[in-house]
Amino acid sequence: MTQADNIDAYASETGAAIDAAASLDEIEKIRVAALGRSGTVTQWMKSLGTLPKDERAAAGARFNQLRAGIEEKLAAAAQKFEAAALAARLATERVDVTLPVKSEIAGRIHPISQTIAEVVAIFGEMGFRVAEGPHIEDDFYNFTALNIPPEHPARQEHDTFYFPESAEGHRRLLRTHTSPVQIRTMLAQQPPIRIIVPGRTFRSDHDATHSPMFHQVEGLVIDESTHMGQLKGCLIDFCRAFFGIDHLPVRFRASYFPFTEPSAEVDIGCSRAGGELKIGAGADWLEILGCGMVNPKVLEYGGIDPAKYQGFAFGMGVERIAMLKYGIPDLRTFYDSDLRWLRHYGFLPLDVPSMVGGL
Ligand code: DAH
Repeated sequence: MTQADNIDAYASETGAAIDAAASLDEIEKIRVAALGRSGTVTQWMKSLGTLPKDERAAAGARFNQLRAGIEEKLAAAAQKFEAAALAARLATERVDVTLPVKSEIAGRIHPISQTIAEVVAIFGEMGFRVAEGPHIEDDFYNFTALNIPPEHPARQEHDTFYFPESAEGHRRLLRTHTSPVQIRTMLAQQPPIRIIVPGRTFRSDHDATHSPMFHQVEGLVIDESTHMGQLKGCLIDFCRAFFGIDHLPVRFRASYFPFTEPSAEVDIGCSRAGGELKIGAGADWLEILGCGMVNPKVLEYGGIDPAKYQGFAFGMGVERIAMLKYGIPDLRTFYDSDLRWLRHYGFLPLDVPSMVGGL
């Protein structure tokens, strides 16, 4: 048998094997056996150098032809199997659009976030912008510049968390209220100032009505003609908008804060008949925030001329107003991370007001 007969026999054998192959795997095995690194055709091509010179060109051409023929048959067979596999997948993976959708578990917005968003939206409509400040403060911003000098009794009342003293004798602290942002804002910009400051605050205190970390919203307005009437109007409007009661009774009761003069506490009308608290009805009062005209000493610490400018400020506890509005009885539950509680008291994302949409 000549070499040419051999090649013809191999070509038709391989062609028959390809025709008989039942899968892509088998096709691949045939390819490796013929064209792989130690496959028959590859070996033959490698042996070209051992042939007499005058036979090499013709033999080379035969081998190339053989290889091309096999490659072509392999490709056609592989394509046939791939098309069949695709058709099978398309038949089984059909989507039934009439099936009911699997319900997703939607997350909830925490009542603290919801309440802050509501407060910000109300003051946002009155032209306030949001300002923020650091949780780690120093004595100057948290106390001194707010007219609470080192020996002032208010310092004791704040149950401050202090950091260890630095080598220079400097003691940093966790801010006990959002009021230091008043000073930071005054030092950063001249009036007119109209800011609202939501944020975390910290005091070493823990019981049913106190948590070592809690939230406040501070407000500050400073301009040349800012007066007490504006303070009252602004806070009455806020209370009515926040509790959603048009004629909610609101009263200002004289009080004391070192950073305001005069100072007042704001009470809203409520009833406690039968041990049940109802906001907006009855003859009782419930305290909800502190406020006053910014003490001229505080303006001075903030680099603002008290002969030219006056301001008002207010501060409120977010947990407290959230508990009142949403009937949440225990402060500690805010931080338990109990999903059942969150599902009950939490809000769907679409219920959260934005500055764009308002309330
Ligand atoms: N910083 C006060 C506190 O934590 C709350 C407060 C009262 C802030 C009156 C004010 C204000 O700006 O005018 O108890």
